[in-house]
Amino acid sequence: MSYNKTYQNNPNLWGNKPNNLLLMFENDFIPNSNVLDLGCGQGRDALYLAKKGFNVLAIDSSNIAIKQLLEKSEQEQLTNLTVECVDASNFSLQSNKYQIINLHNLLQFIGKDNSLKLINNIKDKLSPDGFVIIKAFTTNDPESLKNNPKTHTFFEPNELKKLFDGFKIKHYIEHTIKDIGHTNKPEPHYHGIVELVAQKTTYFSINDYLKFLNQTVNVKIERPLGSFHPKHNFKYPVNYGFVPNTKAPDNEEIDAYILGVDKPLEEFTGICVAIIHRTNDNDNKLIVVPNNQVDISDQEIKDNTHFQEQYFESVIIREKLNV
Ligand SMILES: C[S@@+](CC[C@H](N)C(=O)[O-])C[C@H]1O[C@@H](n2cnc3c(N)ncnc32)[C@H](O)[C@@H]1O
Repeated sequence: MSYNKTYQNNPNLWGNKPNNLLLMFENDFIPNSNVLDLGCGQGRDALYLAKKGFNVLAIDSSNIAIKQLLEKSEQEQLTNLTVECVDASNFSLQSNKYQIINLHNLLQFIGKDNSLKLINNIKDKLSPDGFVIIKAFTTNDPESLKNNPKTHTFFEPNELKKLFDGFKIKHYIEHTIKDIGHTNKPEPHYHGIVELVAQKTTYFSINDYLKFLNQTVNVKIERPLGSFHPKHNFKYPVNYGFVPNTKAPDNEEIDAYILGVDKPLEEFTGICVAIIHRTNDNDNKLIVVPNNQVDISDQEIKDNTHFQEQYFESVIIREKLNV
């Protein structure tokens, strides 16, 4: 079914309020990270997240929806929202690029085989610690018997939850709602709904780093400022070391950059003011500074760690997240 005509006649079909699952979990998301909104419609979720600073790619198969969203995005001068008119079943998903993937009322419009393929692809390609947010229809929906599984998806009880085995299920409910009617179906009707928010767990989670945030940390310096990397022969512009008795995913100790000290060190005790969370790699790094330099800016952190972090994609985390 194409939404083109309906969207053309109703420039604000679903309203401006973002979907409730985003509102419930937005404080758990890593700030400024990458969002993929599949079946974005006229973009109520995409616009909301872009205004909050996330980098959003919003896709929909309706060229009218995409045109309307682009116009809204230009009016709001949002430079972090990109739109594409494409069929979600054919979208080529880049590995580890997205920390949040949102499918709000999309899958009911896709054949069951393609929905299952898309879900497997999302599970595989979502970034470590990333969130997937799905609202879809269940076999409790009165429409389910009338529709062909080649063109529509209705999930059996608990089916969606089982598909995300191995993920941390943050929210899962199945319920029936009464829809009072909307422009393309004005009479009141019922829907069987399933809601899922799941987080891709890694055997070593970002939680293991977050506990250091704003704490005093002791670091043994392995690469003092001015020393050379043993293999790659670059010079360390800052002191770099590890926190003894900890374990990172590579089975080594957790690494830390010492910033705000301009002489070579052997050991250092300071405050962990930030975590560099690598979004395309399992490893993360602590940023440790002297007590009187806790107001170091994100830009200073980026500039001082660029010599090594330039090879990775990352975001800087400064506040505790509820993960
Ligand atoms: C019920 S609307 C939901 C829109 C939006 N997510 C929201 O909650 O406001 C479903 C959307 O999915 C889009 N859609 C349907 N099939 C699609 C497909 N195969 N690929 C991409 N988008 C699709 C429709 O054009 C429509 O905009």
